[in-house]
Amino acid sequence: MGSSFSSMLLLISFFLALLGSVVPSQVSQLDETNALADCLTKVSVPVDEPGSKDWQLDATPFNLRLHYTPAAVAVPTTVKHIQDAIACAREVGVKANAKCGGHSYGSFGLGGEDGHLVIELDRMNNVFLDTETGIATVQGGSRLGHVAWELYNQGKRAFSHGTCPGVGVGGHTLHGGYGVSSHTKGLALDWLVGATVVLANSSVVNCSATENPDLFWAIRGAGSSMGVVTEFRFKTFEVPEQVTYFIASVPWTTETRARAGLKAVQEFAKTMPTELNMRMFIASRFTNLEGLYYGDKEGLQAVLAPLLEQTNGTLALIRTGGWLDQVKHFGNGIAIDQQHGYQEHETFYSTSLYTRELNDAQLNKFVSYWFQHAKSNRRDWYVQIDLHGGENSAVAKPDLDSTAYAHRDFLFMFLFYDRVDQGVAYPFDGHTLMQNFVHNITADMDQDNWGMYINYPDQNIDQDSAQRNYWGRHLTRLRKIKKEVDPDNLFHYPQGVLPETEE
Ligand SMILES: Cc1cc2nc3c(=O)[nH]c(=O)nc-3n(C[C@H](O)[C@H](O)[C@H](O)COP(=O)(O)OP(=O)(O)OC[C@H]3O[C@@H](n4cnc5c(N)ncnc54)[C@H](O)[C@@H]3O)c2cc1C
Ligand SMILES: *[C@@H]1O[C@H](CO)[C@@H](O)[C@H](O)[C@H]1NC(C)=O
Ligand SMILES: *[C@@H]1O[C@H](CO)[C@@H](O)[C@H](O)[C@H]1NC(C)=O
Ligand SMILES: *[C@@H]1O[C@H](CO)[C@@H](O)[C@H](O)[C@H]1NC(C)=O
Ligand SMILES: *[C@@H]1O[C@H](CO)[C@@H](O)[C@H](O)[C@H]1NC(C)=O
Repeated sequence: MGSSFSSMLLLISFFLALLGSVVPSQVSQLDETNALADCLTKVSVPVDEPGSKDWQLDATPFNLRLHYTPAAVAVPTTVKHIQDAIACAREVGVKANAKCGGHSYGSFGLGGEDGHLVIELDRMNNVFLDTETGIATVQGGSRLGHVAWELYNQGKRAFSHGTCPGVGVGGHTLHGGYGVSSHTKGLALDWLVGATVVLANSSVVNCSATENPDLFWAIRGAGSSMGVVTEFRFKTFEVPEQVTYFIASVPWTTETRARAGLKAVQEFAKTMPTELNMRMFIASRFTNLEGLYYGDKEGLQAVLAPLLEQTNGTLALIRTGGWLDQVKHFGNGIAIDQQHGYQEHETFYSTSLYTRELNDAQLNKFVSYWFQHAKSNRRDWYVQIDLHGGENSAVAKPDLDSTAYAHRDFLFMFLFYDRVDQGVAYPFDGHTLMQNFVHNITADMDQDNWGMYINYPDQNIDQDSAQRNYWGRHLTRLRKIKKEVDPDNLFHYPQGVLPETEE
């Protein structure tokens, strides 16, 4: 009895030792998770109970292909909670990331890998419009639909931003924010006049053109790497009484026609009027031109007529309405006022590309790949080509170096997207269909002549390429600022800005 008891003890301690030596990282990750939970409890930061309904909601990414398990999910309701949560992450030695709408294609709001502290901001989503100054104060966890809804209802105002009501104002604004108003009104970050940021050392600072201007420059393009923005201050514009949205289908059945059609669209994009916003939408079975015009039907028809003639396009939809009608239309009809509880998801892989005007060889490569490899592939893919720049684009107006957004001078912004139905596992070779699309276009392009959009990230590229492709000519300055505000890279994720190093 005694000897079997002591040999059992021996056995147990043997297994414990084995556990300790064989899986040290798991054990220490468990230690970190526990230490983090203890710290957050001690300073009274609200958290989601692991496994609870809220945890499920907050830790499920928009892109179901990329699940990551956080070390903890903090759900602050005050700036102090955010400061304390960041202090806990620092103390325990885990990475921390803000999460707003959770719409990052790479699930970067969850840290883009396991074991991060997620600071879920969506309980902080007040929107206040000062009708005297037209300045909107927007809390860092608001979703775009909620912001648009509030600004309209509080004073018939808006700023320029993207289309999906569930997208967070956080990730969206801090990295660009392109939408169906951008050719007329610029990027979301162009409307930002100030922000309140919690830095990695837990201090709270304001930034604007006159206060901490370097930080203000950096958060307008690379904000996720610099701190947690608790409050945005946007200028706004009075919404137009009437806008007109449209869809035109183009029947390009052969490569020759697609080349001619695309070339006509490109010529048009270079000088199209400021009031017109347009993109091309290519799927395996159809191609559309679609967009928004600041004006009425007759005005739009006059502007589009020459292009429709050259492309054989026919208008399938043309409708004039008020501001919220177009918000609803481009939001695919879902309710505009989205807040905590939003539950739309997709399973997909995506990548992106900015280019200048394509020369004939590059245009031919694009069309060849489209017709010879993509068109016949009945996967559920699409390519969206935003007419981003050009002579009359509000995106191209500000100085290229006025914010950290590095791509104002590019004509096209491409999004490549390949999805499967929910519940279907994502096949590995799904990656190459869209990736090869990009590689075929960029193969003989100079690195200066293309880039990628961090809001349409390609989670499959390494950190060096990611930094170069997303921030191009602004990377050196961003890394200097990063070193000042977050030298230990607390806000790390696999494609973020790295602090400048000595060598
Ligand atoms: C359905 C859909 C439609 C889209 N449409 C458009 C479009 O029309 N135009 C366009 O430009 N983009 C569009 N996007 C891309 C979108 O802009 C990006 O995915 C954006 O980063 C999402 O922001 P988020 O706050 O929802 O994401 P999250 O995953 O919560 O965050 C994304 C990144 O931003 C950081 N972050 C978020 N909030 C803060 C904050 N307050 N302070 C500091 N860092 C923060 C996170 O840490 C993370 O790195 C779309 C995406 C989806 C899924
Ligand atoms: C930041 O600016 C806001 C709005 O002007 C102000 O209320 C707040 O006190 C400022 N915070 C700091 C830390 O300066
Ligand atoms: C438009 O239609 C005409 C007549 O069928 C055809 O010759 C031309 O190639 C088409 N152009 C495009 C871009 O589809
Ligand atoms: C172009 O696409 C084809 C087909 O997918 C692929 O085999 C080829 O490697 C791609 N070319 C480049 C330069 O990536
Ligand atoms: C926090 O970091 C900022 C940016 O580096 C610095 O200016 C500030 O002095 C720091 N605050 C404290 C309390 O250390």
